[in-house]
Amino acid sequence: AQALCGVVALDGPSGTGKTTAARRLATELNAGYLDTGAMYRVATLAVLRAGVDPTDAEAVVAVVRRTRIDVATDPSAPRALLDGTDVSVEIRTEEVNRAVSPVSAVPEVRELLVSEQRRAIREAVDNGGGIVVDGRDIGTVVVPDAPLKVFLTASADVRARRRSAQDMAAGRASSFEEAKASVQRRDHLDSTRATSPLRAADDAVLLDTSDLTIDEVTAKLTELVEGRGLLG
Ligand code: DC
Repeated sequence: AQALCGVVALDGPSGTGKTTAARRLATELNAGYLDTGAMYRVATLAVLRAGVDPTDAEAVVAVVRRTRIDVATDPSAPRALLDGTDVSVEIRTEEVNRAVSPVSAVPEVRELLVSEQRRAIREAVDNGGGIVVDGRDIGTVVVPDAPLKVFLTASADVRARRRSAQDMAAGRASSFEEAKASVQRRDHLDSTRATSPLRAADDAVLLDTSDLTIDEVTAKLTELVEGRGLLG
């Protein structure tokens, strides 16, 4: 089977199919999968559990410094751990959705997590392998020399519909209007923050997924990987 060699940086807002397509691509190409959003979510859960105000940057940094945040890079079982305990379900609540933007806007939090991300990426690539990295600032900050950067977009309505369907599939109550407000609010905060805002790298391939199925998005990504000669 063909395998990915090197890093694919996959950025964009939520609801673009990014995570599902990234996991599929990684599985098909025998690569690792790094969900950097899950790391910011674990940090946020730790902040909430400590009873700290997510907008109190100093207190947030203190919590994140003393928390161990691990995410598994196996695309078929992407677990997120807080101090060694699996919190994969707990990091997907609306409470975390609301608090994750202020926590991830703190520069020291980003420094801590980005160095952890680079370590995981190096580990995957050093032994000749590949890794698909899912985030907001992968192509701009975390791996600016990635051989393939893709920035996924989709209309707000499409993204809200997908988010709402995901919430319901996971057994969480959700309405389209709520999902749309939540998605737009978070994108606005993530795109306007001072440190590493959500934006496409100048050399990223833009892919609008509004009218594409997950299969089509995955196929398009596979085509780009092949086109860049990243299969070994
Ligand atoms: O991909 P996600 O929705 O699970 O990400 C959750 C939040 O984490 C997102 O709203 C912004 C933040 N994030 C970030 O700031 N940088 C990343 N590389 C990934 C996520």
